[in-house]
Parts: sequence; C-alpha cells; structure tokens
Amino acid sequence: MALIKKLPPSVVSKIAAGEVVAGPYSVVKELIENSIDAKSTSIEIEIISGGKSYIKVKDNGIGMSKEDLILSIEEHSTSKIENFEDIYNLHSYGFRGEALSSIAKVSRIVIISNNGEESNKLEAIGGKIKSIEPYPTNEKGTIIEVYDLFFNVPARRKFLKSPQTEKRLVTEFVEKFILANPETGFIFKSDNEVIYNVKPSTLIERFNLIFPEVKEFTEINGKFVHGIISSPNYYRKNRTGQIFYVQKRFVQDKMLYYIFESGYGEALNNHPYGVLFIDVPPRLVDVNVHPQKLEVKFSDPNLIYSDIIRSVREGVKKFVSKEIFISEKTPKQTNTLPNQNQKFIKESFQEYRTSEKFDNKVKQYSSLFDIAKKNIELKEDILILKKRYVLFEGEDGIYIMDFHAAHERVLYEDILKKLNETMETIDLIVPIQVKVGKSLKEIVKEKFEELESNGFKIDILENEIKILSIPSFIKLSDVEDIFREIIDELRIPSQNPKNLKHIIADKACKAAVKTGYDIKYEEAKGLIEEVLKRGLTTCPHGRPLFLKISFKELDSYFERT
Ligand SMILES: Nc1ncnc2c1ncn2[C@@H]1O[C@H](COP(=O)(O)OP(=O)(O)OP(=O)(O)O)[C@@H](O)[C@H]1O
Ligand SMILES: [Mg+2]
Repeated sequence: MALIKKLPPSVVSKIAAGEVVAGPYSVVKELIENSIDAKSTSIEIEIISGGKSYIKVKDNGIGMSKEDLILSIEEHSTSKIENFEDIYNLHSYGFRGEALSSIAKVSRIVIISNNGEESNKLEAIGGKIKSIEPYPTNEKGTIIEVYDLFFNVPARRKFLKSPQTEKRLVTEFVEKFILANPETGFIFKSDNEVIYNVKPSTLIERFNLIFPEVKEFTEINGKFVHGIISSPNYYRKNRTGQIFYVQKRFVQDKMLYYIFESGYGEALNNHPYGVLFIDVPPRLVDVNVHPQKLEVKFSDPNLIYSDIIRSVREGVKKFVSKEIFISEKTPKQTNTLPNQNQKFIKESFQEYRTSEKFDNKVKQYSSLFDIAKKNIELKEDILILKKRYVLFEGEDGIYIMDFHAAHERVLYEDILKKLNETMETIDLIVPIQVKVGKSLKEIVKEKFEELESNGFKIDILENEIKILSIPSFIKLSDVEDIFREIIDELRIPSQNPKNLKHIIADKACKAAVKTGYDIKYEEAKGLIEEVLKRGLTTCPHGRPLFLKISFKELDSYFERT
C-alpha cells in the first residue's frame, strides 16, 4: 500500500496560507503594502486584542472595481506583474498575488472598495465569498477588515502570542512603514487608543519619532544607499535600532547588519542606530527568496556592500576624530570602488567566518573537561596575562581562566540570588527619566508588574518612563543603560523567552564588570577559588571560563611519552 497520499486542496491551501500569514503583524504588513502599492497618501490601521480578533486597514488609494474585488482574494491573482521576468523589474511591494487570498483563507474578511466609479462590499469566510453588493461610500479607497485570524486553523491560533505581545509586533511593523514612507500619513490605533497619528513629514522627523532617545545622528548618501545613522555614542545592546530596507522593503539580513557596523571601523561601540534605504536597479536584486519577503538576494553584493561601508564611514567621520576612526583594515581611498574595498570586504567576511569557527573550537575545548568533577586544587602560583587571563596549575594540567567572564558569572549568580531571595530596593529621591519610543513603552506596559516585583517601580508617562525605585545592586549611574537594555532584550520575540530575573541579572552584572584594568593578584586568586568552589564552567552566556592543557598533552607535544 502506498504511504504517500496527495493532500486535499483545502489542506494544501491552508499550509500555503500559513507561510504568508505568520500572525497579525504579517497581515498588517501585507495590507499596508497593498495600500501603498495602491498609491495611498493616508493609511489608517486599527487592531483589537493585538490583531487576534480584529484588524482594519483603510486607505485612500486607487480602489478596486467589483470584478477586481472578487479576483483580489483568489489565489495567484495580481494586478502587479504579468510575466515571471517582471519580478526583476518591480516597483511595487506586491507581486505574488497571494497575500489577500492567504489572509482570506484563514479569517473572516470584509473588503469595501471605491475606485471613484463604483463602490462595493465583499464578505468572505475562510476564503469563500458570502456576499458582494454595492455599498455606497463617499471617498475613493479601500477598507479591509480581518476578523478572528486563524479561526479555522485552531492549531495556528494556539500559537499566537498574548494580545500585548502581538500588539507590540504589529507596532514594530507599523513603525517600519512609518519610517520608510515619510510622504504618507499614518494613523495607528490599538484597542481604541491612538498610538501614532503622523502627517506626511520628513525622514528626520520620522526618525525622531521612532527613536526619540537618539540625539546625535546624520544623514548619509551613497550611490545605492541613503538614510540616517547615529553617532557611535548612541547604541543599543542589540540590533533593534538597525532597520534596513531594500527598495523600501524591510529586510532582515545578517550580512547587511555586519556590513553596516563595519562602516563604523574602530569607532564601533555596541550596535549603533541606522535606518538605511538600499535602492538598487531592480535587475540587481531578487526579492522572491522568502515567503514573507523579509530577505533579498543581490546579484553583485560586493558592489552594494562597499557603497554602504563607504557611506557609513563618511557619516561616522562627522562624529569622531580621524585618529580613533582609521583602522588598519580600512581602505585608504574611499572614493574609488575597485580592488581595495573588495579586499576589505573579503577580509571582513573571513574575519566573520573565523570568529564563528573559533567559537565552535572553544566550545569543543570546554566540553573536554568538566571542572566540577575534576576537583582541581589550586597551587600557589598564578600568572595574570594581558590584563584578562589568569594562568594557574591544577592537579592534571595547566588552566587558563578568562577573568572577566568568570567575574561576570560569579556576579550573575549573586545577583540572581538576591533577586530570588532578599529583594532590596532603593527609592530614588530624584526619579530617573528615560525617553522611550512607542514600542518600547508598550513593552514596559506589558511587563509593568513583573518589573515592579523585581525592584523597578515605574511611572509610564506620554513619551517617557520615570523610574522611581531600583534594585539595590544597581549603581545609580548605570540605571538608565541597564533599564534600556532590559526592555530592549524583552522586545525580541523568542520561542523561549528569557525569565526577567535572568535578564536583569545579566545586564546588571555586565555593567558591573570592568575590563582593561590591572587585575590584582589576590583578586584573581580569590576569584579562581570562588569559581572552583561553585563548580562554574561557563559565563552567563555559555562561553567557557577555562582552557585546559593537560600535562599528558604537553608531554605528547614535547615528545616525552
Ligand atoms: N488596498 C488596496 N487597494 C487597491 N487594490 C488592492 C488593495 N489591496 C489589494 N488590491 C488588489 O488586489 C490584488 C491582490 O492583492 P495581494 O496582496 O493578494 O497580491 P499582490 O499585492 O499583487 O501580491 P503579494 O501577494 O506579493 O502581496 C493586488 O494585486 C491589487 O490589485
Ligand atoms: Mg500584496
């Protein structure tokens, strides 16, 4: 008997719909893209319960006729391309003719559209049209309402996150469109609260709106890239402040993040902010490589990458002195494209790759021994190397300990203990004010109670957060940085979200660990003893604390066996 069965079309279409529709945020993304493709200058977005029960996108675009309305929710129906080759000469967001049909298949959808000549309303459930009739409206444009997403795919509905989290994901996508389309007005409402109401403006105004905390930034202009970058003094500990677009299409591309940061050279400090628009002739880019169109492929990446590096470098120069900035590997002539830059990029690629390899190698080493089992006894002498490594002898070999990683781990454990046991807080006489954008504010709202039970008492105001009390182990001067890092970390959606206590401990201990100073002998010795006593083997992020070379390995190396 054959084990392979042909899937019924209803299953096939739900699977296909699932690829396009990942959740409310992707519905909102597809609907806004359609509105922009329809030449709208004003777009209104509304969600209820994070978009799980209701999503509405209203525009003042070209609208659709009755015939188009019916076709719009059919599979593979588009007004944007005719031949496959058109994908390589694309000036619209859409091209697959799949978004509306996918959304319609997994929801109840109502579309009202007025093309200036006629106005109609279509209702469909699970992709099947229930009614279509004339429906008078005054204005040209389209309103699309999506009710009960995944109502007919309970397995998918179960995987949707809490309304607050879905709302945040939607907000972040809306922000990406607000940044990329300054000439378009946007209103965004969630549960009847107006989150954004922005008139047509400029990129700078939009940048200020989304990243109000960044006070130093500059515009950059290259051959293929333009946008805004922050001074290296403004950064986040993750890349949520780096938003890149290719042909105005938001993309998440590891290589682009890396290339952007390479432009900062020696001045790079954590992850600076950057909103970059990469516009290349359509034939040089393939946008059809990802189901949600979040990745692209360049046909000549080096050409684009070197332009980004050069333009970012020019921008960064405005903030930093030449001495700090010029790194050995930076190409000397920046206004000529060919070989030097290509070589630079090649070297950078290599560096990138080797560092990954190195990580794996170190992981291999660290798994070779388990310090907790070996019962190492510390001999008298230790040696401090390069202000960061401590070398010492154990029973069966020599050990090199990464001092700061070990220090971080010990502090991490201590802070975690405090958070779990004796939560001491300090009330601030003068509250600390932290400017935040809307989506960060959402996270704070979402985590309000958890933050409070972990020592952060806060007040949420219109455009800022007031911190009223803090856990006692945080230094006053570190509060703002640590708080920002905590909420930044919380905004990254993850399948296994980290516990807030772990995030606080992680950020707080990182802030407390100082590097580059002369480590004292006693301090190093004390730390080794503490780490051995507690049986710790890795830093809080899983990097190894020790490298061991056994005497056996030494003997065999020196051919003494
Ligand atoms: N807001 C709108 N205003 C006017 N026409 C629209 C609107 N939304 C959709 N359409 C029409 O419906 C068609 C189908 O939309 P859909 O999003 O499914 O496909 P697409 O945008 O062509 O391609 P993709 O699947 O890549 O988004 C579009 O090609 C367009 O003609
Ligand atoms: Mg579309």
